[in-house]
Amino acid sequence: MTKRVAILISGGGSNMIKLVESMTGDHPARAALVLSNDANAGGLKRAAEMGIETDFIDHRPFKGDRPAFEAALHARLMQAQPDILCLAGFMRVLTAGFVDRWQGRMLNIHPSLLPKYTGLHTHARAIAAGDTEHGCTVHEVTPVLDDGPVLGQARVPVLPDDTPETLAARVLVMEHRLYPAVLRRFAAGDHRPVMLP
Ligand code: GRF
Repeated sequence: MTKRVAILISGGGSNMIKLVESMTGDHPARAALVLSNDANAGGLKRAAEMGIETDFIDHRPFKGDRPAFEAALHARLMQAQPDILCLAGFMRVLTAGFVDRWQGRMLNIHPSLLPKYTGLHTHARAIAAGDTEHGCTVHEVTPVLDDGPVLGQARVPVLPDDTPETLAARVLVMEHRLYPAVLRRFAAGDHRPVMLP
């Protein structure tokens, strides 16, 4: 049976677009909802243009009450009945209470070769460390930030004159290949990691 996928975004949603575009033909899943914590997230408009149901739940009125925000998020998600949740540039930390309800069904993409560089500023940190290789990881979400079983990784070289911006752009190209490849495999029930290139 076709799996239903909800995608959570906060920004431009370039990964979300690639995921939505990938779910056609014999793909085992379809996009059911794109949900944001920011009404102005550019990705919401793009998703609507692609014919996908969209919505937002602004986190700010919850004034830091994460469980209350997450209860609203969960209630909205339940309306869409997703089998799989994809975080794609969703910039809110999720508590264990939320993660537990979706564990085993929630994926995230992170711009580093985990377990290296959890958290923010991954590209600058890879350059500062003198790494010659960098990349991105898709993993199952567990209550620990940027942790959980690795479902795929893609590598890029770090070049001598790289800035965080040039390196981020090189990684993003691979994010757009990796996330759809992992989702396709995961939705088919195959949790073996995808390794690119
Ligand atoms: C990506 O770099 C992703 O790895 C990170 O946030 C960024 C989202 O970009 N988690 P986009 O909104 O998908 O364009």
